[in-house]
This record gives sequence, structure tokens and C-alpha cells, in this order.
Amino acid sequence: MKRIGILTAGGDTPALNAAIHGTVVRANQLRIEIFGFIKGFNCLFNPRVPHVHLNPLFQEIPELDPTKGGTLVGSSRDYVDATKTGELDLIESRLKKLGIDGLICIGGDGTLNGLQPLAERLPTVLAPKTIDNDLGLNYPSESDEWVRVKDPSGKNGYQYKRSESNVAFDLEQVINYATPGYATAVLVTAQGVERIRTTAESHRRIAIIEVMGRHSGYIALGTAYGQPDIILVPECPLDIELVAERVRHLYDLQKNVVIVCGEGIVDEQGRELGAETRTTDPAGNVALSGASEALRSKLVQMLGDRYFQLYRRGNSATEAIFTRKVGHTQRGGRPILFDRFYAALLGSKAVEMLVEGRNNAVSILQYHLQKGFHVEAYDANRFRDRWGLIHARHMHAALYDSKSMKPSKMGINYLLPIFTGAIGNDDAEHLRQTLFDAGNLAQPYHSINTDIQKRIRYLEAAD
Ligand code: F6P
Repeated sequence: MKRIGILTAGGDTPALNAAIHGTVVRANQLRIEIFGFIKGFNCLFNPRVPHVHLNPLFQEIPELDPTKGGTLVGSSRDYVDATKTGELDLIESRLKKLGIDGLICIGGDGTLNGLQPLAERLPTVLAPKTIDNDLGLNYPSESDEWVRVKDPSGKNGYQYKRSESNVAFDLEQVINYATPGYATAVLVTAQGVERIRTTAESHRRIAIIEVMGRHSGYIALGTAYGQPDIILVPECPLDIELVAERVRHLYDLQKNVVIVCGEGIVDEQGRELGAETRTTDPAGNVALSGASEALRSKLVQMLGDRYFQLYRRGNSATEAIFTRKVGHTQRGGRPILFDRFYAALLGSKAVEMLVEGRNNAVSILQYHLQKGFHVEAYDANRFRDRWGLIHARHMHAALYDSKSMKPSKMGINYLLPIFTGAIGNDDAEHLRQTLFDAGNLAQPYHSINTDIQKRIRYLEAAD
């Protein structure tokens, strides 16, 4: 390996630059050049392959700051289509002309699906990132449990479902325990709950806070750190009677209630409460919106205006019950220590995997009760179901208690190793020193894109 290409694909997460930084530091030690491809896979469709040399003379460029959110090389939701062999031929020849010996993709399940055809052309590995924490397996054999049924509206004409499993869940068996980006997202959602709580308390209101995560409830689960009263996750169908009963009990007692719901929550029939729009990635991922509003309508109807008037706490249910989406703030900004540290290790491991001659492999973060976290290489094929698809990991049912609507004991044990000590001293100090810096008022925002643009080089030879 003399020259490695790197790209970031899918939605941005806070630890992308940290992962890139990890690869560059390791590559410098091994005297390998790293070329950063602009805007994810999109770059490969461009005959000029816009790229940045991230370590000229084996020193990282100063713009590569592991504490900055986003990605200095940009990202997109464009993916390579395995059926377009002509396009793949062109990509292969472009990468060859550029002298690329191996490729590192930083991304989630969409990216891992997307890189499969590339791995048949050149050594390609994945370093994981996703705030959804859904890249991985609850246990090694989970990918074999997928079944599919014909459904013209589904992906490739099929609906994919998990069959009943009797594998005992064990935290040490989880493949890729946590993914860079997740901890920072939970920091934001948990703080969001704390902030909304004071309004709910002061104004005797019921707040429904919608968090991201698609069909996986990890972000909602972790938001337990902000002490919401009720947590609803996509993996557990909504029992609206139980939720209404709990809301009444809590509201009688404390005059306010804070509910957290994952954006992908489903009703008793398994239908999403919110609306779904397809995104472009090959994992068949969807964008979800409106779950909290749908839940609000149900509660407005079930509690009714009289309930609030009786207590003299408001004129109507619609006035008392409100929703807030944490939205993209949970995906942005400075990554906290846990994410930075492990993103860098996973990035560095990706370089080593290529050097060791591995292809289509993933650097994963494993947890051991006594030894804590460590990184390993894992064969990407083991993530694939028998038809070759990689599915987003759902939060295991054992992590959630559907009666208390909170993390179960196992759920708490799952969260503790990630979040205990996840915030570094420098994270707190950074806020103290930078947010109210007088310079912020006087200086315009200086975008990383402005600096990176000056470093972009192109493959000049035409196809
Ligand atoms: O996968 C990350 C994620 O933030 C999901 O949690 C969310 O559903 C989706 O991306 C939003 O996508 P977009 O930024 O394209 O709206």
C-alpha cells in the first residue's frame, strides 16, 4: 500500500474528521499517502475525481481537526450501483490512474452495502460511523435470521423481516458495540430533554421530544440520561392505552410529563406513526418524519380538553401537549471524547486492515466486561444476509423494559460503558472558552470548505 483513498458517505456525524485523522496518523507512521475523495462516492462518478492529498510529506494538513464535527472532504448519499458494470469499470480505471491501492469508506450500513461492488475491484474496507448506532449485529449469527417475502412495494420487490430468534443476548457477543457519532448525538438529545423539562414543569405541559435513529431505538434509549418520564422505541409497538395511563398518573403527580420518542415508532399493527420517504442509499434506508405529531394527536384525543380544564392547568389538550424535534443538531458539532477517541482507533485499524491485505472488512469496536473496549477487524460478508444485503441493526428487545418504558437493567448495563466518562475535560473547557469568544461577534464564519477548495486536485487524464 503506497496510496490509499478515503471517503465519507451518508449523513454526516460528529466523529468523521476524527476517523479520518486516525487513518492519516497511522498512514504517516507507515509512510502511506492518503487521498481524501470529495463528497463521498459522488467523487468516483466524476471523471476528474476531485481529491485532496491529506498528508503531503507524511504530515497531516492543518485543516484536518479531529475535534471538528462534519467532514472536511464532504459527504453525500450517492452510491455505486452493483448492476452498472460500465460505471464500475470507469471507476476502477480512474482509481488505477490515480495510483490508489486501497479504499477506506467511512460510513454506516448504507455505505457498507454500497461498497460491496467496489470490493470486487480493489481492496476496500469500512470504518464505521453513524449516530443511529445501527451498524452491527446483536450476536454473530443475527444476519442469518433474515427472511424475505415477496412484496412489490418493498426493496427489490421483497419485504425483509427477522425470524424468531432464541439466541441468548449477551453484551460481550455484540458485534460493533457502539459507533462513533452515537455518544455525541445522545449528549445533544439528553441535554434537549433537560432543557424542555423546565418549560414543561413551569407551564404544566406535556412535551413529546422526537429523536433520530430511523428504525433503531438506541438514541431514544440513551436519551434516558436526560431523565425523560417515558421513552418510546421503534422496536416495541406503541401501547397507547398504557402510555395515556402513565401520562395521566405522572401529570396528576408532577404537573408535567416529558416523553421521548424515536422517529421510527410503530403502532400495534407495526405501521410507522410518522411518514416515510425513501432515501438513496442501497440499504433501503428511509427518512422518517411526523412520529411525535402523530403521537400528540392520539394523546390530545385520549386526554381531552376537560382533563386540563378540570385541573386549571390549561384551556385545551392541544395547548398543553407540544412536540419538539431535536433534528439535525444531534448530528452536528464537536464530537465528545468517546466518539473522537474510538473513531480515530477505528480509522487507524482500517489502514492496518488494508496493509494486512484484507478486503471487504470492517473495523469494529468490541466490548469486554473486564478489558473494556478494543478494536478488531470483521469480515463484511458476516454482516450480509443470505441474499447479500446488510441490514441496520435493531436495538435488542432485552435492552428496553416495555412496562416502565425505560431502559431495562440490561439496557442500563449496555449504556454505562459508553457514557461513563464519555465527556472529556476538554469538552467542557472547550465550551467555556469558545462559545462566547468576543471574536465570534466580530468575525464572519470561516468555512472549512473555503480552505479545502484550495487544496482540491483533479485526475487530469480524460476517460
Ligand atoms: O442515519 C442518520 C440520520 O440522521 C437518521 O437518524 C435520520 O433518519 C436521517 O439520517 C435523516 O436524514 P437526512 O439528513 O437526509 O434528512
